[in-house]
Amino acid sequence: MQKEETARDAAGGRLSIRNVTKIYDPEGVNVMAVDDCSMDIAAGEVCMIVGPSGCGKTTLLNAIAGFHSITTGEIYLDDQLLCGPSKPQASMGADRIVVFQHGALFPWKTLLENVAYGPIVQGSMTKEQAHALGKVMLEEAGLSDVADKYPGEVSSGMARRVEIVRALINSPKVLLLDEPYRAMDALTKSIMHESLLEVYDRTKVTIFFITHDLEEAIFLGDRVYVMTTRPCKLKKVVDVNIPRPRDYKILSSEQFRLLVEEAKEAVHEEALKAFQAGERELA
Ligand SMILES: Nc1ncnc2c1ncn2[C@@H]1O[C@H](COP(=O)(O)OP(=O)(O)OP(=O)(O)O)[C@@H](O)[C@H]1O
Ligand SMILES: [Mg+2]
Repeated sequence: MQKEETARDAAGGRLSIRNVTKIYDPEGVNVMAVDDCSMDIAAGEVCMIVGPSGCGKTTLLNAIAGFHSITTGEIYLDDQLLCGPSKPQASMGADRIVVFQHGALFPWKTLLENVAYGPIVQGSMTKEQAHALGKVMLEEAGLSDVADKYPGEVSSGMARRVEIVRALINSPKVLLLDEPYRAMDALTKSIMHESLLEVYDRTKVTIFFITHDLEEAIFLGDRVYVMTTRPCKLKKVVDVNIPRPRDYKILSSEQFRLLVEEAKEAVHEEALKAFQAGERELA
């Protein structure tokens, strides 16, 4: 156990969010989305972020990804400062890859070409190398049959799995996912979960995953971070002490039910505050 944790730490991916505040448009409408938020996410952790709608979860993810600046505080990846007072916006980098909710595959490229695209444009691999590695990775993910198809020819679930492979070909330290399975039916979602857990068991990449689905959060996560209503900060951490590899049998266990209840109670309390404050909708 000790040995495995040391290897994970060496591979990197520890995220430290230190007293981060984000105010949108400080001179104008002045929306405080994140307020003095601190979180420590271990290397190789599956970190699930839940909280009321509009509380500031995406804002936090975007700051880690480098899509926008923070107002105060610091974010570190391992010991590297991503953003802080001297550099309000993190640079975008291949060490942190975002998987978008609405998909972002190029429709005019085959799935293999999509997977190989990143390393080729970054110049980190030749076309031949990227295609060879892409093929291996698609095969490992059970997707070799669709490698030569176009995104429009496969299901949305299949496309989403390819997006994860596409993210991983860059060997990121952190995978950032913003409600990636939100619009999916329960069966497709369960296939997505199994496939993501398989990928995780192989790569042990740090996963920062935003969701409104508390069962999804407990099923996938090592820890579930419940955020307060806006402005967002950490309210509670639920430790998910369910051993891996996990399968769907745990969904009917008492331990699983109690953990979902624990998270639900905390989110509900915050959602109620948001509702009373007139925010958009409940979680
Ligand atoms: N570019 C922006 N300018 C001004 N306000 C913004 C901007 N982006 C987001 N906000 C506001 O910041 C707050 C947090 O938004 P954010 O999208 O981070 O919440 P969220 O927790 O991801 O919500 P959801 O669960 O609905 O996805 C909201 O009140 C939102 O309206
Ligand atoms: Mg969001």
